[in-house]
Amino acid sequence: MSVASVLVLGATGMVGSAVTRALVAKGLDVVVLVRSEAKAAKLELLGARAVLGDIRAPSTWKEELLSCRAVCHCAADWTDAAAADEQLLDWLLPRLEGKKLVYCGSCWLFGEGAITEASPMVRGTPLDWLIDGTMRVLQHDGVCGMVVHPGCLFHRHADGQLDGVKTLQRMAKEAEQGPVRVVHSAHVHVPWVHEDDVGALFALALERGTHGGIYNGTSFVQTIGSAAVAAAGSIGVERVELVEVDGETALQQFGAVGAFGYALNVTRVDCTSSEALGWRPGHLLF
Ligand SMILES: *[C@@H]1O[C@H](CO)[C@@H](O)[C@H](O)[C@H]1NC(C)=O
Ligand SMILES: *[C@@H]1O[C@H](CO)[C@@H](O)[C@H](O)[C@H]1NC(C)=O
Repeated sequence: MSVASVLVLGATGMVGSAVTRALVAKGLDVVVLVRSEAKAAKLELLGARAVLGDIRAPSTWKEELLSCRAVCHCAADWTDAAAADEQLLDWLLPRLEGKKLVYCGSCWLFGEGAITEASPMVRGTPLDWLIDGTMRVLQHDGVCGMVVHPGCLFHRHADGQLDGVKTLQRMAKEAEQGPVRVVHSAHVHVPWVHEDDVGALFALALERGTHGGIYNGTSFVQTIGSAAVAAAGSIGVERVELVEVDGETALQQFGAVGAFGYALNVTRVDCTSSEALGWRPGHLLF
């Protein structure tokens, strides 16, 4: 096994697969951890080496961890995210001495309004566990820890259909049949990023990032109302009627993270530190 490999955790997810593609495209030896043969085959098609193993049973992929030179942690086990991530970091951090670790955070950790690289993260939300993880990664001695905070991911299929975070597909589907639900208001601003641009940002962080580096990855901000129109338009639905749902209803219908994040009015995201790495997102619109 090559000592130069990069291990990607969560490679079957939206962020992780984008990261895997970007690293493979750079010619790196990418090892991914997957839970099934079917997923292994999919990732091998992308050019990665797949290893069967479970995030929650780290002893099964100890060899891969010891022999890699860097880890991109893009895994989130949403059934019990806080405990799963805490346990994973307990195991990972002491074994990464002298190596790079790029951790996936979120654009929703900073509260509302204009976000700058220096503003503190806001606690008391369903994403507190991700703040805990972020702080541990940035502060762990002896590990070159970095964090990428991506916006909401999207991409387009060859036929033009907008895809990515579940909300985009849901809104398109609803538009075909009737009103489209939006949390709180159609005028909530959401940070967006194309999945290829997120992959590129992780690759840059690995290549040029420094210990404690925090890299925001949002390429544009657009209201959820406009996103609904774009999603519907991408499947040929021209007329979109929006219906605003309150926090209580959103919690029941979209879960804690969806109800929280899609109500946050994030009007600007400061990506200065990412630009300093050379990040130039290629997709500035849907
Ligand atoms: C990332 O964005 C948030 C929200 O805009 C901001 O508070 C934070 O300072 C930014 N971090 C960096 C390193 O730019
Ligand atoms: C979000 O902030 C922008 C800019 O301040 C404002 O125009 C917009 O109305 C806000 N949206 C909501 C839902 O408050």
